[in-house]
Parts: sequence; structure tokens; C-alpha cells
Amino acid sequence: MPATELMMAMQTNDGNTMLRDMSVMHPAAKMLVDLSAAQDVEAGDGTTSVVVIAGSLLGAADRLLEKGMSPVRAAAAAVQTLHEMSHPVSLSDRSTLYQAASTSLSSKIVAQHSGLLGNMAVDAVLKVIDVKTADNVDLKNIRIVKKVGGTIDESEMVDGLVLTQAVVKSGGGPSRMEKARIGLIQFQLSPPKPDMENQIVVNDYRQMDKILKEERTYLLNMVKKIKKAKCNVLFIQKSILRDAVNDLSLHFLAKLNILCIKDIERDEVEFIYIDSFTEDKLGSAELIEEVQSSGSRTVKVTGVKGAGQTVSIVCRGANTLILDEAERSLHDALCVIRCLVKKRALIAGGGAPEIEIAQSLAKQARALTGTEAICWKAFADAMEVIPTTLAENAGLNSIKVVTDLRHRHEYGEKNAGVSIKSGGVKSNIAEENVLQPLLVSTSAVELAAETVKMILRIDDIALSR
Ligand SMILES: Nc1ncnc2c1ncn2[C@@H]1O[C@H](COP(=O)(O)OP(=O)(O)OP(=O)(O)O)[C@@H](O)[C@H]1O
Ligand SMILES: [Mg+2]
Repeated sequence: MPATELMMAMQTNDGNTMLRDMSVMHPAAKMLVDLSAAQDVEAGDGTTSVVVIAGSLLGAADRLLEKGMSPVRAAAAAVQTLHEMSHPVSLSDRSTLYQAASTSLSSKIVAQHSGLLGNMAVDAVLKVIDVKTADNVDLKNIRIVKKVGGTIDESEMVDGLVLTQAVVKSGGGPSRMEKARIGLIQFQLSPPKPDMENQIVVNDYRQMDKILKEERTYLLNMVKKIKKAKCNVLFIQKSILRDAVNDLSLHFLAKLNILCIKDIERDEVEFIYIDSFTEDKLGSAELIEEVQSSGSRTVKVTGVKGAGQTVSIVCRGANTLILDEAERSLHDALCVIRCLVKKRALIAGGGAPEIEIAQSLAKQARALTGTEAICWKAFADAMEVIPTTLAENAGLNSIKVVTDLRHRHEYGEKNAGVSIKSGGVKSNIAEENVLQPLLVSTSAVELAAETVKMILRIDDIALSR
């Protein structure tokens, strides 16, 4: 649990988040932080494993430094081994996708909700892509909205957009609109303010009437124009300079039956953005309605047309710490499904891939000669850090477990791995549904080897000002 300078606590189990928030000084350590961030971009999951593997390789290289280790070539062979042990997965196989999402969630603080969160991750990704043609997922189309209040169980997925702002109802306007025609405006429905601070002294009642009348006509004209464009829902972008609406404009909006939501953030409305106020520029949605649950209000925009698919996941939780972690874990699960869209193959987890790599590299090393053979053997041994760590974390005897795994893999049990659930070695860890995308493992091995190579090339560190 890292705490930032402002003593803001953070509760997380995500490797990248933890490393990112630590204050590391050593340049090599900074490279490892970057490595974890690179894995987060590339695969989204496996950000802890990648650093553990890199650390182990560095440990091995330390002993072999003078011999000139080349981890990249061995890494290529390792990736080949991973490809061989993977099996293809189809995007229509929903239950397998769910298993992969659920495995990535099983090591998180919110693991007990992996059923709900995993299902939402799968549904959300499948909604925003075209299953037949997709080869990537734009995670921007999946908005995660966090709401304090309630429990994680009450989180839900909405097929559309969810806004956390409430509808402005003080003027008596509607809070539900079917067949919505949405206008997003950057101007404000309140009297204009002068650029400079100045005072107007009115000492004549007729003048005062005139000012009030001016304001009235100014606002009425604007609202009438909005109505004329057949707009019935108005989103007003957040402004720090002026009030979005005042009592009078709200009154007019209510009279003309226009639903109004203010303080819309720029990034929330990319989906339905329009730039000038004419009928053809309006966005449309089947239904906009304000809903209340767990003591907080949100606005649901469903059936948005012509803007691609957008889904929102409303995360609920008792406090911001758990909510933030739920969001990060959900992000990992979404990334796992995205990996499967990019590369439709799965491998068994629980240390099985790493032991398999160690075996196959050690075997290939026997055919090599000289320093190369020693380097490959060292790479092979370094990969055993993952099953060792998993076994230790599960409270098992790691030496016993790794020896057993080596033995099983030697006899062709490619999917033998550490099972945390049954507390021992399983001959087929895939049967326990511990599955992970091939891309997470290949990217972890490649990126770790690349970083290690870079660190090994450094002869000395000179501090600069
Ligand atoms: N039920 C399980 N039994 C055995 N091993 C498991 C199980 N669930 C996950 N694993 C293994 O745990 C490792 C992943 O651990 P974890 O999710 O904590 O770290 P990470 O994915 O490397 O990083 P992060 O999730 O923080 O980005 C993988 O090697 C995976 O195969
Ligand atoms: Mg993980």
C-alpha cells in the first residue's frame, strides 16, 4: 500500500500502479518501472510478472556478466515455446473468455467479485467490437464510472453512456426524455458578464425594468433557438467563468420541455459531440433518464445512434480506495480480453509456461556450445522464479513444487502448474480454469529480456545536473 506525498493512501495489488507510485532513485530501478508501464500498455496484465522475470534475469546475468549474455535470442526461443503450448480460442466461446478474465481478477483485492467483474469485462468488450472483423479494442469506448455508495456487487453495465451529473430540475423541467435529440453547447444560458470588473448603478426604476427586460429577451431568444432546432436535451459544457444556467433560463427550458444537464466534462461527450447548433448536428438517443440507486443519482443515455458503440460500467463501492482498485482490476480484465482479440490464443497459467520455457531452453542449450550454452541455461533457470514465487505465496514448499513441476514437464505434461486453490501441483492447471492470454506471457518475456539487455549495456552511471 503506497502512500503519496500528501499522505493519500492507496490500496492496490496492481504491479504497475505500485511501482509507478514508488519514489525510486536508481536509474536501473527506473528502467524497471518503465518496463512495467510498457507491459501495461502492451498487454495490460502481467505487470508484476514482467518485473519479477527481469529481476531474475538480471540476477543470472550478474553472475555471467563477463561472458556477455544475450537474453534476446533466448527470449525468442522462449516465445516460440509459448506459442507451441498455446491453444486457439474463439471470440464466440464466451465461457473461456470469462475464465481468462476471472484468472486475472483472482489475484486482486476484489477477487471475491471476479464473477461479476469478469462477466462485465467480457460483455463490455464484445459489445464494442465487431466480433468477426476486430483485431483490436479501443478501450476508450468502455467508460468506467465510479460512484461511492453501495457495494461492488451493485456495479452494473449500461449499454450506452452514463453521466454522473444530475439533471437540473430546479426550474421544474423533465428528468426523462424518450427519443432524445441532444445538443451539446459551450455557451451559457445566463446573462453575459463584462470582461472587467465594473459596477452599474441604476437609480431609476424604468432603467431597472429595461435591464430585466433585456435579460429576459436575451435568454428567451436563446432558448427559442434551441427549441427551433428540435433539441429536447441540452448538455452544457463545464465553464469556470460563468454560471451555466440561471433561474430564468431554467424556467424557459422547463416551459419548452427541454431536459438540461450542466457541468459536462469535455472528455465525457466525445461520443455525441456537435460543433454548431443546427438540427442535423444534434446527437440522438432512444432514452435519457435519471436513475437513483444506492443513494446517488446518475443519468443514463441509452440507444445512442451513429456514434459507434459505447458502453459504461458503473462501479460502486464503499469508499474511494476500493473503488479505485476495482477500476484498476476491471482495467486488467478488459485488457486480458483485448489481448485475446488481438491474439486469439490462451495458455495455462500457474507457472506452467515458465517451467515449460525453462525445460525447452535447457534442452536447446545442450545442443549449443561455449558461452551461448551457459547463457541459455542461465535464462532457463531464471524463468523458474515465477513458479517458485507462486508456490511461496501459496504457502507451499517451493523447492519441492518446482522439482515436481520439472519432472512432470520432462514427461510431457505441458500444462502442469502450481494450483493455489488445491494447494499443490496439478497435472493440468487449465482444468482449474487458470488461463491467461498468450500475448500477456509473450510480451512479458520479450519486454523483460529487452530491458535486461539495455541494462547490461550500461557500463557506468554518470550523474548529470
Ligand atoms: N488460481 C491460480 N492458481 C495458480 N496460479 C495463478 C492463479 N491465478 C493466477 N495465477 C498466476 O498468477 C500470476 C499472475 O499474478 P498477478 O496477477 O498477481 O500478477 P501480474 O498479472 O503479473 O501483474 P498485475 O496483475 O499486477 O498486472 C500468473 O503467473 C498466473 O498464472
Ligand atoms: Mg494479473
